[in-house]
Amino acid sequence: MYKKVLQRIQQSQNLQLTLSATLLTTAVGLGYAYYKTKNSQNNLKKHNIAKVKDHYNSVDQLSLTNIDKVKCLHYDLILYISFDKKSIEGSVNYHFEVTQKTRKVYLDVRNLKIKNIMMDGQKLESMIISSDKTKNFGEQLQIFLPNIQEQGSKFKLIIQYETVESKHSGLNWLNPSQTEGKVFPYLFTQSEPYWNRTIFPCQDSPAIKSTYSAQLHVPKPLKAYCSAKLISKFETEHETIMNFKQDIPIPSYLFALAAGNLEERKSSDRTSVISEPEVVDKYAKELEDMEVQLKTLEEIITPYEWEEYKVVVLPPSFPYGGMEYPLLTFVSPSIIVGDKSATDVIIHEMAHSWSGNLFTCKNWREVWLNEGWTVYFECEAIRKLHGEEEYQIRFLMLDNELKNNIDKIGHHHSYTTLNPIIDLQNPDDSFVGVPYIRGMQFLTHLSNFVGKHKFSNFTRSFIEKFKYKSVDTQEFKQSFKEFFGEQIYSNIDWDGWISKPGYPPSDFETNCEGVEKPKKAALRFLNDSEVSKQEWDAFSVQQKIIFLQEVNKKEQLTKEKVKLLDENLELSLLVNPEVYTKWFVIALSAKYEFIIPYVKKHLSQHGRMKFVREIYKLLNEYNHDLAVEVFKSNEELYYGFCHSLVKSDLKL
Ligand code: BES
Ligand code: ZN
Repeated sequence: MYKKVLQRIQQSQNLQLTLSATLLTTAVGLGYAYYKTKNSQNNLKKHNIAKVKDHYNSVDQLSLTNIDKVKCLHYDLILYISFDKKSIEGSVNYHFEVTQKTRKVYLDVRNLKIKNIMMDGQKLESMIISSDKTKNFGEQLQIFLPNIQEQGSKFKLIIQYETVESKHSGLNWLNPSQTEGKVFPYLFTQSEPYWNRTIFPCQDSPAIKSTYSAQLHVPKPLKAYCSAKLISKFETEHETIMNFKQDIPIPSYLFALAAGNLEERKSSDRTSVISEPEVVDKYAKELEDMEVQLKTLEEIITPYEWEEYKVVVLPPSFPYGGMEYPLLTFVSPSIIVGDKSATDVIIHEMAHSWSGNLFTCKNWREVWLNEGWTVYFECEAIRKLHGEEEYQIRFLMLDNELKNNIDKIGHHHSYTTLNPIIDLQNPDDSFVGVPYIRGMQFLTHLSNFVGKHKFSNFTRSFIEKFKYKSVDTQEFKQSFKEFFGEQIYSNIDWDGWISKPGYPPSDFETNCEGVEKPKKAALRFLNDSEVSKQEWDAFSVQQKIIFLQEVNKKEQLTKEKVKLLDENLELSLLVNPEVYTKWFVIALSAKYEFIIPYVKKHLSQHGRMKFVREIYKLLNEYNHDLAVEVFKSNEELYYGFCHSLVKSDLKL
């Protein structure tokens, strides 16, 4: 095995030596203009290159690849991770299949320096094109093949490249000061929805799925992980080299990399927690229920196919609560609060092992098929683990969240539907909470309509049909029709649920004590200023959230009322950011100055976008200078696009 790996490294190094000569490509960022290095200018005519706007494929408007012509079935990565240069030098060997006769391959790239492209030992011509229209999500690498490739044929390509440091990147390079141990640097990637093109050239669309292998080189004593199974590992004088393999085809946004001073703690035969040595034991303890959670999901859905389930708890600048990389979920340390009360994120990410990772939405307008199904499974798991009352409490909490979201977005906006029209100038804006909760409610509606048992059978048949594939809403509807027949199908308000903006069609009844208690308590407080600490203390996290949601539903609370809440319920003692950020929103909106030290402390500890952005917006309304001061002193904590978004919110 070692011999083989060494051979591969040697091959790759030889390649690097022979091919490292000229820069074939050059990036252009102005309008629809396109350039090429001088000596290949003629090739422009020869290959009849059209402008980038003509090369959108028919499936995914956020990818600039010709996915209707070629499909990457497999790729082999060799990546050298350099913390000194904050760059990855790599080579990718792609195995393509031709679905429509072509002489060109277009790949997604962004902030990459392409060094060389080879096919059968021959250097290929290429160029990078960008336009105003697509500059917010990438550039197009056009590769010209020596011959026309016929439909059905297969061919391989090798690209050597280097990543370029940028704020607009899926690579987050952390200095030692940003880690727990403060001694070693750290790297983590974030590819969803369209950042994998900043890690290596690829068909960066959820419509394309490939298997892959990766050989990762990291300086000793650091370790690296990716979203694949570790096959072998060995050390040279200065490096650790790790080989990984992913045999289940996955979309590019599920490629992941984490490298740093990492240790792993197993919690069952197939589950483990990975983090820095200073915190790994504490994190593993808080996440000790993963095996039970995984078994519960297997009972609800189908057996788990990825064999291992590992969780990396990242440093606080990880911008999400969690990210569902296959067999390697990434989570924010904000889910560890000491009492397991914020760890449900794990159930959500685990559930993606089926919805999203086995079957995948075909493009980002269809993201509800990933997130809606996942929240649906997550809620079913909560029902199985904690009972009907907990399920209903969660249901109401999510329903409040959805309505609040829709009120903010605007009832006529396409982002409130399950097939939003993406604004290509600001594609990030379309990633809102609606597909999660509206999607879950839609599936719940379907399940209630056909009966729970039959719906479970449908779920399993849907997974069987679309696993390892990408799927869209049309295909979802079609398989529902095939399973349940024309009559049941025609009784569903498809259009109302999927395409009509505003609140979704039907309201669900929640009717248990657990839901009523926080609702009634909120009403008592709003009407009579009555609050009971005893009652508050007995609430679960979700009940506390419902109480705060209900209190914040109507008109703005006065500062006096906010003070009353704080003093009676001792809200400054809250430790769970899911709860206390709701409290911050109420307090900041009422300009309650006593909250400021707590807000400052929070913003210096957390880099999770959901917990940071809204709070900065409100702090900015409260006192712009203060918001800027807090932001400036914590800048290092925020990941590239979280940093850019907050910066623009603060008008900096
Ligand atoms: N896949 C998402 C994260 C994501 C979505 C990243 C869209 C980039 C674009 C992940 O599964 C997720 O939904 N995370 C949530 C937590 C969950 C419990 C709702 C989060 O990070 O808040
Ligand atoms: Zn999710």
